[in-house]
Amino acid sequence: MRATHQRLYVNVDHVATLRQARRTDEPDPVAAASECEEAGADGITAHLREDRRHIQDDDIQRLATGVRTMLNLEMALTDEMLGIATALRPHQVTLVPERREEVTTEGGLDVTRDTERLADGIARLKRAGLRTSLFIDPDLRAVERSRELGADAIELHTGRYANAGGAAPLDALRAASSRGAEIGLAIHAGHGLTVRNVGPVAAIAEIEELNIGHSIVSRAVFIGLAAAVREMRMAMYAARALTTASRVP
Ligand code: PXP
Repeated sequence: MRATHQRLYVNVDHVATLRQARRTDEPDPVAAASECEEAGADGITAHLREDRRHIQDDDIQRLATGVRTMLNLEMALTDEMLGIATALRPHQVTLVPERREEVTTEGGLDVTRDTERLADGIARLKRAGLRTSLFIDPDLRAVERSRELGADAIELHTGRYANAGGAAPLDALRAASSRGAEIGLAIHAGHGLTVRNVGPVAAIAEIEELNIGHSIVSRAVFIGLAAAVREMRMAMYAARALTTASRVP
């Protein structure tokens, strides 16, 4: 089933990356979040990493009270992060793997390992009333396992598609989306998406939400943040409108 409106959640991590380069107070990711919302973002995503390389605890606290749309907190499954999430109660938590030495989140969660800990963590988040999403590679077994673990949603890692291009990564995203929706999961996607490559992913019927950060913040340097959000929105709408039109008999 096609979700009529595909949500754009803007990841503001790299606004904080720029601030942390000088450890000063600008640019402020919370002010950026507000500008993204005004420009039409459906939600704000932020990743509180264990090493606090970009988003800081104070940012997450201010986002939790300041975001007027939806706050999607990305985090690793640790006791510390579970404590923060259940105290701050964002609308959604996306669990991601985290390795200190990585430049960015390089792969999806390995949902075949450590399943008891994952199931416990998801149950704890759900008891706190938080919607839970798992960031996974577009792999059918990982999709099915995510459902068994009790997640509400999956976020499909689009990094391979974005980096390698070609038909196979896109086919994997389509197959994982279709299977996930069939078994009752909400389908999200993200990582490495830009206005140039977002079209084929935005056109996948089952994908309800895209999480996009680096390219929007990068474009903002040249055209401003609000324009960068609108430009991405337009690229998403255009891709979806085209595929809807092509299905009309
Ligand atoms: N989704 C998840 C789970 C991520 O970890 C990231 C990167 O922080 C993104 C989406 C956004 O990726 P990008 O910054 O490449 O748009």
